[in-house]
Amino acid sequence: MRIRIDLNGREVEADTVPHRSLASFLRNELGLTGTKLSCEVGECGSCTVLLDGRPVTSCLVPVAQADGRSVQTIEGLGINTQMHPLQEAFVGQNAVQCGFCIPGMIMAAKALLDRKPDASSEDVRLILSGNLCRCTGYQKIVEAVVIAAREVQRNG
Ligand code: FES
Ligand code: FES
Repeated sequence: MRIRIDLNGREVEADTVPHRSLASFLRNELGLTGTKLSCEVGECGSCTVLLDGRPVTSCLVPVAQADGRSVQTIEGLGINTQMHPLQEAFVGQNAVQCGFCIPGMIMAAKALLDRKPDASSEDVRLILSGNLCRCTGYQKIVEAVVIAAREVQRNG
């Protein structure tokens, strides 16, 4: 099938098979490898992207379901010279170790801050409860999101 999505603010069209996962489509057909694949059964959150602004585990979303919709991935968030406050806070708080879980963590956190810029640490823990990290103790990740929330609020 021919699929058309708004990907990080740009219209993308591609031929694909409808039952392919959105994660696989992003990584293998579009080369956007920032979205990570690990468990592939919806348990770890490493493949989290935003579909129409809501966080989804993209390993479980058939790409056909994304047709005509908006998809945001970590690649759309920021670049080295102009990082999103979440990216700056993760780096600043040393919240990144191997980094494998981080794109999913950041996308889930972005969905929270878009909806609730004054998110508390309890809100952050709740939204990240589906995202597993094998390296950190989560504390620095939560602190990073709370710091980013303050920054987002400061900048309006
Ligand atoms: S790879 Fe999708 S939830 Fe683990
Ligand atoms: S930083 Fe390694 S899995 Fe989270």
